[in-house]
Amino acid sequence: MREVNLLLMNMPAFMTVEQHILEEQRRNHPEASGEFSWLLSGITLASKIVAAMVRRAGLTNVLGTAGQQNVQGETQQKLDVLANQALLDCLGRRGNVAVMASEEDAEPIVVPRDRKNGKHVVVFDPLDGSSNIDVNVSVGTIFSILRRDPDPTETRDPLVDVLQPGSKQIAAGYVVYGSSTMLVYTAGNGVAGFTLDPAVGAYIISHPRIRMPEHGNLYSVNEANADTFPETYRTYLARLRSGDTGRAYSSRYIGSLVADFHRTLLKGGVFLYPPTRANPKGKLRLLYEANPIAFLAEQAGGLATDGKNRILDVQPTSLHQRTPLVVGSKAEMEFFNKQEES
Ligand code: AHG
Ligand code: MN
Ligand code: MN
Repeated sequence: MREVNLLLMNMPAFMTVEQHILEEQRRNHPEASGEFSWLLSGITLASKIVAAMVRRAGLTNVLGTAGQQNVQGETQQKLDVLANQALLDCLGRRGNVAVMASEEDAEPIVVPRDRKNGKHVVVFDPLDGSSNIDVNVSVGTIFSILRRDPDPTETRDPLVDVLQPGSKQIAAGYVVYGSSTMLVYTAGNGVAGFTLDPAVGAYIISHPRIRMPEHGNLYSVNEANADTFPETYRTYLARLRSGDTGRAYSSRYIGSLVADFHRTLLKGGVFLYPPTRANPKGKLRLLYEANPIAFLAEQAGGLATDGKNRILDVQPTSLHQRTPLVVGSKAEMEFFNKQEES
């Protein structure tokens, strides 16, 4: 019988993200029923819809504000609302997602048909960095997947399913709509990156195993707030600048968490969003920004804290709670933690 040898056919490794997930599941969770990969395809489908909208934003009437505020009191951009709708629609039809929670919705959303037996919760930031949309700067989508027990009586408060510490995530990832559209995810066995091939409409593997460098030479923080950072942060940044780590640093700040983290993941260094006068508890949201980013960082060999505690250990008490975030390479994080302890 003739076997197909793709190498002989000089075919590129057309490993799609769906195939990667299935192989991961077969290898690490032989009992898995393929439900998880079906769920993730709901996210990848929604992200392709968002990518198509983002890439044509200037040509269609999707720029600018939607004219209302979200639960955070932030003015919603039209694309915030459209991206949110895409995720709710695509995930709501997967048949195994019982509860969803979004930055753009005040309360968790229950999927009635799957409330009883659905085993998954998906928490997401449908469009991250949306203030950058109108100026054509990279934005992203962030997602976090948790497990839940079936709810035979269908009476459980969905918040109980959502308010789990980040250590309970079974998978997390983001899509960055940058010079290319990339999906980066972890299911607890390392971090892999896929690039969307618009000609094929599929996410093809481009970064099979992403490891965060042991150290970097970039720090990323909104310096405009520096005078109101707690002393620890100001001292830390001054010591990075003065070469106390033995390395010289430069500064990069895009203002989209996904883009700033993606660079930190690939190049190393440190990203910080400290407490500020405007946001004394930090600006970033624990459940759908800090937790997925922290899971990815640790899976790639980095660290993530709220300035004192490991992000993944924090027990959430409310859906939209905010947290300071310090995330990056081992060297820069240990330098911060040592200073914090002294
Ligand atoms: P979102 O657009 O989802 O509200 O997130 C914006 C966040 C995050 O992407 C970024 O790191 C941070 O806001 C930037 O805040 P500043 O503009 O205050 O620096
Ligand atoms: Mn965000
Ligand atoms: Mn957002």
